[in-house]
Amino acid sequence: MTKSSKAIYKKGDAFSKLAKARGFRSRSALKLLEVQKKDNFIKPSSRILDLGSSPGGWSQVCLQIVGKKGFILSVDKKIMEPLKGVNYLNKELEKLKESDFENFDENILPFDVVLSDIAPNISGISERDDALMNSLLLGIRSCLDNFLKEDGNALCKVFHGESFDNMMIYMKTNFQKVKIRKPDSSRANSKETYILGMGKKK
Ligand SMILES: C[S@@+](CC[C@H](N)C(=O)[O-])C[C@H]1O[C@@H](n2cnc3c(N)ncnc32)[C@H](O)[C@@H]1O
Repeated sequence: MTKSSKAIYKKGDAFSKLAKARGFRSRSALKLLEVQKKDNFIKPSSRILDLGSSPGGWSQVCLQIVGKKGFILSVDKKIMEPLKGVNYLNKELEKLKESDFENFDENILPFDVVLSDIAPNISGISERDDALMNSLLLGIRSCLDNFLKEDGNALCKVFHGESFDNMMIYMKTNFQKVKIRKPDSSRANSKETYILGMGKKK
């Protein structure tokens, strides 16, 4: 390990410890907190769809913001341990359909905010990882088209490369404002970055 990669891992560890100390289920929670602090794109009482939610760090952050008046639906193909105040669906995002949103006390469609922290299992082979990310983002775009309200906001994880370029085209076409975010708590040597879209167009 080189000196600079050692430093990056040390910093990553510090963020993991901080997330744990603050009671979050994942280090990722700190990334959402950072973006929220800067952009304030989740409002109290928002209805939120959290795609790729497990183990639940982002859902915990959402819960702190939206309180009892909001609504959170977390979706993951992996089991997520129950989180009081958060609804959970064990499903692949590509299989989500309108009827999945019907069995709740209130009418939850369309959502005010859609989040995606989804990434494929990384192989280290750039072309393969990018192709997998591209295909996941197709499913995410379909969720944004179908389940996010007009004027709603979205935050999506992407990798630098073709998937980033394709997602940027989609976001710029469909949102009034688009910002790129790389939180400090995201490892500097990781390919991940986040695209924030604010104000979904008609
Ligand atoms: C980086 S983790 C999310 C961490 C989460 N934001 C948190 O703070 O705890 C990515 C998640 O995406 C889920 N995932 C990957 N592909 C998926 C798919 N096609 N449908 C639903 N979930 C998926 C994985 O199971 C994994 O739990």
